[in-house]
Amino acid sequence: MQHNAFDLSLAAPSPLSGEIFLPGDKSLSHRAALFAALAQGESVIDRFLVSGVTRAMLDALTALGIRWTLDGTRLSVSGNGLRGFSAPSAPLFCGNSATTIRMLAGALAAAGTPCVLDGSDGLRKRPMNRITAPLRAMGVPVTTPDGCAPLTLAARDASAPLRAADYTLPVASAQVKSCLILAALAADGPSTFREPGPSRDHTERMLAAMGADIRADAPLTVRVAPLARPLAPLNLKLPGDISSAAFLLVAAALVPGSDILIRDVGLNPTRTGILDVLAEMGAHLTIGNRRDIAGEPVGDIRLAAAPLRAVRVNGDTVVRMIDEFPVFAVAACFAEGVTEVRDAEELRYKETDRISVLCSELRALGVRLDEHRDGFTICGGTLAGGTCEARGDHRLAMSLALSGLAAPAPVTVRRAEILNESFPDFVPQLRALGVQPR
Ligand code: S3P
Repeated sequence: MQHNAFDLSLAAPSPLSGEIFLPGDKSLSHRAALFAALAQGESVIDRFLVSGVTRAMLDALTALGIRWTLDGTRLSVSGNGLRGFSAPSAPLFCGNSATTIRMLAGALAAAGTPCVLDGSDGLRKRPMNRITAPLRAMGVPVTTPDGCAPLTLAARDASAPLRAADYTLPVASAQVKSCLILAALAADGPSTFREPGPSRDHTERMLAAMGADIRADAPLTVRVAPLARPLAPLNLKLPGDISSAAFLLVAAALVPGSDILIRDVGLNPTRTGILDVLAEMGAHLTIGNRRDIAGEPVGDIRLAAAPLRAVRVNGDTVVRMIDEFPVFAVAACFAEGVTEVRDAEELRYKETDRISVLCSELRALGVRLDEHRDGFTICGGTLAGGTCEARGDHRLAMSLALSGLAAPAPVTVRRAEILNESFPDFVPQLRALGVQPR
């Protein structure tokens, strides 16, 4: 999606304080919109995230003949059932959104709708063979020029089921798992998917709540039965996005004397690695008002700033905070000691190669660090400030800007408008906590 260009500069503020609510979770917003389209009947989704990437999903649904309306952040969707898409007249443009293209591929495979799925230059560089190979094994007629978008799904007789799968994902990926789960709803028997780490399980929870027979047979194993009856429509309010909360939590952690409260944040254990790591670094984190919203754990997070110390992050924690490494790296820049990240090669396949790009932009701000194939090592206390580039990565834009809150000199991020892809409220939320961008 095209956004108006701007640079973002932040400098040391007075302590952050206040209480805020965040926009709805990005992963849940994508799923809610798509699954509502696959349900039979009218869904209402409150606190839907309105942003560049979710717009890509909504526009794709329009092109597939789905009717929806947005009233503020309340999304209403008229679902046509699992096989209710109409064939689009042109390729579907998924923008920068890998979640959109991968989940749509699974839904279109189940529906049997012929379609071309494409996206931005950035999206065209991301690996799609991780979905096309297992989809083909299930009988889906999908091709790509070189393992990347555009994906072409040929017409398929939707009354004939796909082949049930028994598949082990080579990397932990909720997008891949979700794509295959959706295809498995139209298979000729139960499918089983195993993964090497605990990727987010929002798809499993939401589809199960809508009546699908999906269960975790064993740790890291999900069994999906073919859909026996139409999915029930959704009527829910989404929790706030923990990945957006992470930016504000790190902002407060960086400024001595800060004390903030973020209400209604999603606390799915497959997403809370960043909270564990910030607590291990020394931030004072407390969680109150724990409850469930629509099958997802939710709570209020309070953070009081305290001096940060370096940590080592590896193993399953990497999967549980896969989107938070840019902002975590900024926290590490102000921690005492040397922080090391390992087992995180998957970061090279995100919106950018987040290991290489993060390291080069942090170096531009003076940080002493080493890049590894599967992570990085950062020497705390070496970030000087200056100017850097967002590099077309929304999370990099916000993270780098936050480094200005604790650097000796201000930090300016060029082309920061990309943050509108996931968190258009980033600057207003910072203002609400007392930060004045320059
Ligand atoms: C997402 C899964 C993650 C994450 C992305 C959103 C999802 O990707 O990085 O921002 O909503 O399923 P992978 O599943 O490919 O790791």
